[in-house]
Amino acid sequence: MGNIFKKLGIGLVVGGALILVGHWQELPISFQVLFFIVALIGAVVFILLDAQPIGTMSGGKALLAVIAFWILLVTVCVAGASLLPQFDPEDERAKIDKLLGKERAASQKGKAEELIARAKALDEQVKALEERLKGLGSGQAVATAPAPSAGEKPAAAAGTGAGDFMKVGEEQWQLQECYNCHKLRGEGGKKRGPELDNIGSLLTVDEIQQKIADPKSFMAEGYEKEYQKGIMPNKFKDLMEPKEMQALAAWLGTFKNTSVNTPKPIKKS
Ligand code: HEC
Repeated sequence: MGNIFKKLGIGLVVGGALILVGHWQELPISFQVLFFIVALIGAVVFILLDAQPIGTMSGGKALLAVIAFWILLVTVCVAGASLLPQFDPEDERAKIDKLLGKERAASQKGKAEELIARAKALDEQVKALEERLKGLGSGQAVATAPAPSAGEKPAAAAGTGAGDFMKVGEEQWQLQECYNCHKLRGEGGKKRGPELDNIGSLLTVDEIQQKIADPKSFMAEGYEKEYQKGIMPNKFKDLMEPKEMQALAAWLGTFKNTSVNTPKPIKKS
């Protein structure tokens, strides 16, 4: 009897030590409990070693004893196991869903926002194209309306009034895509160029024309780097008829909005 208590005591001490180790290693409580139970089972086996041997059995009695022992073992195992905390995959899924749910929602929102932004960008492109088409359409109207005589360039068509001349200038602004780099009337200028709403107060029409024909002729104050790099393309005198460039310069010369901070042009060459 004393032996039993001694062995049970050893089992409890070992089990307690295992719980402490599990706790120290930050294992889940269920693991710690499991360690303790295993230590107790070990103690029980240890105790059983001292049990009195049962008498020899044979025949049907022996078979029955084996089956009974087997049933006992299975019952203890199954019952014991079902008492322990169970691992439920559904539980784990729910936990993971909870953790990921927020992130997923956020990324879906992000995707939606990205799609909206892309749709907006496309819409803007369509609008810009429509503008250009309109420009082209009326450009033809200007060219065809006064019945151009042979050899005459469309923009130089005779009989175009001052209004039409200005219109040609505005068309060139759209056609040559100056708006890509320059903001005007609050539109365009996504790239590296100055806002031009007050250019008419700073340069004469002639000077604006010089700047378009030869971007090195003037430098916008504060745009030294861009000027050095030659960001403003030196190609417009090849792309425009002289009349068209004059019209563009004249049209830009009408922009005298002093509330816009168009940088001072500095004469270079
Ligand atoms: C690829 C970009 C780009 C394009 C396209 C472009 N420019 Fe510029 N432009 C610049 C930059 C950058 C500056 C400032 C640096 C400089 O003066 O060269 C500038 C300066 C100017 C200035 C002088 C502004 C000031 O305050 O001194 C005028 C005028 C001008 N551009 C007119 C035009 C016109 C008209 C067109 C279309 C025919 C045009 N630009 C196309 C980039 C561009």
